[in-house]
Amino acid sequence: MNELNVENFHVLDHPLIQHKLTIIRQKDCGTKEFREVVDEISMLMAYEVSRDLPLSEVEIETPLTKSVQKQLSGKKVAVIPILRAGIGMVDGILKLIPAARVGHVGLYRDHDTLQPIEYFVKLPKDIAERRLFVVDPMLATGGSAVAAIDALIKRGADPKAISFCCLVAAPEGVQVLHDAHPEVKIITAALDDGLNEDSYIVPGLGDAGDRLFGTK
Ligand code: PRP
Ligand code: URA
Repeated sequence: MNELNVENFHVLDHPLIQHKLTIIRQKDCGTKEFREVVDEISMLMAYEVSRDLPLSEVEIETPLTKSVQKQLSGKKVAVIPILRAGIGMVDGILKLIPAARVGHVGLYRDHDTLQPIEYFVKLPKDIAERRLFVVDPMLATGGSAVAAIDALIKRGADPKAISFCCLVAAPEGVQVLHDAHPEVKIITAALDDGLNEDSYIVPGLGDAGDRLFGTK
């Protein structure tokens, strides 16, 4: 089931991203390498997802002359990791957008019901005025992503200003997120085949939080 007809959905099929994703999918990739490569992929994704940030003109003085050049303008950026695993994607994005604020949404997926349980939300005060990059390596059933975005909208975020960025998505999760929040942009490094009976993404990369933090 990976025929999807969903607007606002992009798979970043850049060769560097695909190569690095293959490294972290492998079961023998250890915690240190996993963390480093997630960081690298996130930096590459930041380059792609920031393509539509607005620019304005500014007059500057080079060593030779005055000149009108471009600078980032308009909405400021906030990166919002979904805890825990989203934390692994933050530093890579901040390398390219160092002035971004960081907010946190803490959710875990109950192992029996698979329902997301919210346990922590701390956001910049002005999220209504910011462009928001919500990050989580995995979009599986979509429950966590929908709950995290609900939490942001409830606190004033503009759905049109939200991009959800993940490393691996299941078609089921993309559909659920799109149906709940059609205005939110969904960006993934890979669209996998589907979910197994435990709602893990297949082929996937396993439990992203455990692999990042070495907790299994
Ligand atoms: C993982 C992952 C997502 C969620 C995706 O987190 O990082 O947040 O599962 O699954 P879903 O799309 O079916 O909701 P998990 O709940 O394992 O929590 P953790 O990051 O604390 O390990
Ligand atoms: N959460 C993960 O970490 N991995 C999956 O495959 C699904 C949910």
